[in-house]
Amino acid sequence: MESPPKPTTTDSPPKTMKAWVGQRTGAPAQAISLQTDRPVPGAPTGSDLLIKISHAALNPADAVFMRFLPTLLPFRRAPIPGLDFAGHVYVVVPAELVAPWPRGVGGSAAVAAGLGVVGQTAAIALREAGLMAGDRVLVNGASGGLGNMLVQLSKGHGAYVVGVCSAENEALVRRLGADETIDYTVHDPLHAYLAKQYSEVPFDYIFDCVGHQVLFDYSPGYLATTGKVISLVGGASHGVWPFLKNCMWPGFLGGTPRTYKILGLKPSGELQRQVVKWFDEGLIKEVPIDSEYDMEDVLKGYERVVSKRSKGKVVIKVG
Ligand SMILES: NC(=O)c1ccc[n+]([C@@H]2O[C@H](COP(=O)([O-])OP(=O)(O)OC[C@H]3O[C@@H](n4cnc5c(N)ncnc54)[C@H](OP(=O)(O)O)[C@@H]3O)[C@@H](O)[C@H]2O)c1
Repeated sequence: MESPPKPTTTDSPPKTMKAWVGQRTGAPAQAISLQTDRPVPGAPTGSDLLIKISHAALNPADAVFMRFLPTLLPFRRAPIPGLDFAGHVYVVVPAELVAPWPRGVGGSAAVAAGLGVVGQTAAIALREAGLMAGDRVLVNGASGGLGNMLVQLSKGHGAYVVGVCSAENEALVRRLGADETIDYTVHDPLHAYLAKQYSEVPFDYIFDCVGHQVLFDYSPGYLATTGKVISLVGGASHGVWPFLKNCMWPGFLGGTPRTYKILGLKPSGELQRQVVKWFDEGLIKEVPIDSEYDMEDVLKGYERVVSKRSKGKVVIKVG
């Protein structure tokens, strides 16, 4: 079995490490700064692991936390940003929270790091859908890190997949398994195009990785009566009213007569092991890497993430 790259240092951890650390709220360039002498955490207790991180993958959520979670909060004191990582365990203890190195990844820690949050989020979306072979699926935002996972996993479970992306990313989304793609820059407004093309053959599930409220508002035109819009984007940034309206407002009072779900990930080892299993079984064939930056260039990485133009994962080489 392939294993993660071996650490180049000794087996015992050093005393200090480089780390980007949160100092204040704001955009990444204001919120975080690089420290070169951050103390390495002490020996882990209980089921914690101490990991020498080789690669970390950035997520849009990191920038949201930096902007909105004050560093005065007790659990936000000098926080190190980021959610996804891959690396080498220094100290082995009961490891419920991590997954074994995916066999198919070989030595690429960048790919392993990129299988985290987006893989787990796709997993909860698929669970919510209860996707079956032959279902028809629309993935909005198919060329981003999360959309990449949803296209591959939907296809891998036997669905017919339509991906929404710009023309530039069509080849990528097709390669990942989409049966059709829609260029949203040409077919604008998207909901009108969907109603024209798919009213006779409606979708069973719409996975929304962009957060388009109108996609739900107009969904009776292209979503089966038993179908669901499953949004992975939203929450406070989109307002409480749309959420209440989508989920609770009855059809006879003007509510949209379709089911709407909005999901938030609570990362877990159990989900990650499912993602690794799918990767090793070939349902996830690829983790497209948009770009890789050195540790010193984390801010450039976040610029790329917040641009919302990345095709797949933005990864940081840490070790
Ligand atoms: N609910 C959760 O727990 C959870 C977990 C992970 C992520 N998320 C959220 O899911 C969203 C997607 O995450 P991600 O990691 O996939 O982001 P990402 O990789 O940064 O997404 C970038 C992609 O979005 C595409 N895009 C931008 N505007 C679009 C539009 N109007 N229509 C279609 N595609 C568009 C871009 O393609 P073009 O350049 O072709 O436009 C680009 O490929 C983010 O808002 C993130 O916060 C939520």
